[in-house]
Amino acid sequence: MKTIHTIAELRSTLAAERAAGKRIGLVPTMGNLHEGHLTLVHQAAANSDIVVATIFVNPLQFGAGEDLERYPRTLAEDQEKLVEAGCHYLFAPSDEEMYPNGRDNQTEVIVPKISGIHCGASRPGHFEGVATVVCKLFGIVQPDMAVFGEKDFQQLQVIRQMTSDLFLPVEVQGAAIARDDRGLALSSRNGYLTEAEHEVAPTLNRALREAKAEIEGGRRDYAAMEEEAHQKLEAVGFKRDFFNIVRQSDLLAAEENDTKLVILAAGYLGRARLIDNIVIEL
Ligand code: PAJ
Repeated sequence: MKTIHTIAELRSTLAAERAAGKRIGLVPTMGNLHEGHLTLVHQAAANSDIVVATIFVNPLQFGAGEDLERYPRTLAEDQEKLVEAGCHYLFAPSDEEMYPNGRDNQTEVIVPKISGIHCGASRPGHFEGVATVVCKLFGIVQPDMAVFGEKDFQQLQVIRQMTSDLFLPVEVQGAAIARDDRGLALSSRNGYLTEAEHEVAPTLNRALREAKAEIEGGRRDYAAMEEEAHQKLEAVGFKRDFFNIVRQSDLLAAEENDTKLVILAAGYLGRARLIDNIVIEL
């Protein structure tokens, strides 16, 4: 695997691959890689000839007071994992390479409506930052396909809508959520948890599974269910963010007759903000 830091070198390298008829798959990440990220690399490898992973802790998607400075940066370990997973190129640019005109002069991609709810309501500007950097990465790499995790369900939806609205010639694929043996969704932010917090963190996924079972059993009083879930989570030490039973199509509040649902959940546990979701097909 070759690590490349500049857009110019990546472009000329990939132009040669493209000229040789290779199909290019992209896996954007912020690094500190775990099995969840590597699942994406495997999926890209299975659906393309050349896998390009990117590691860039994108300042544009972090709000004031968030964890931009302390976000774990573990390039050497990440490189080893990517080699093992079958990645061909790692693109690891600097802030200056990605934002040469500075943050304030950067053209931004705004995906309306969906960017302002759930995670977007808790983290204003977050999805504009995500859409902008992913659009830039699509422009830099010009991949045939790109893989994103379903763990960030709303992010995947934002990227799908951006790709469709801007007619970007990239096939966007989702990849299933990788979890530990207690159900906790793998996340770089799990490293912020103390041992005691780690013990109770799987409660988030348990609350989602319990709510899903109740809905499949016929319950439809969604607002009451959301409040019950919050209380269950608060009882073990979570600070509430959201637990929203919504439609898969537009991520707006589910109504009694909707059949394709997803529950989006986020909560603060100690220094970490954890997110998870569960899909329900009635
Ligand atoms: P990051 O949090 O590093 O995640 C990179 C990719 O890995 C995302 O597509 C995310 O959904 C996926 N992922 C993370 N944990 C996962 C898990 N447990 N199972 C399956 N997939 C998982 O998401 C970002 O970075 C950034 O917002 C990015 C898209 C790179 C733009 O900066």
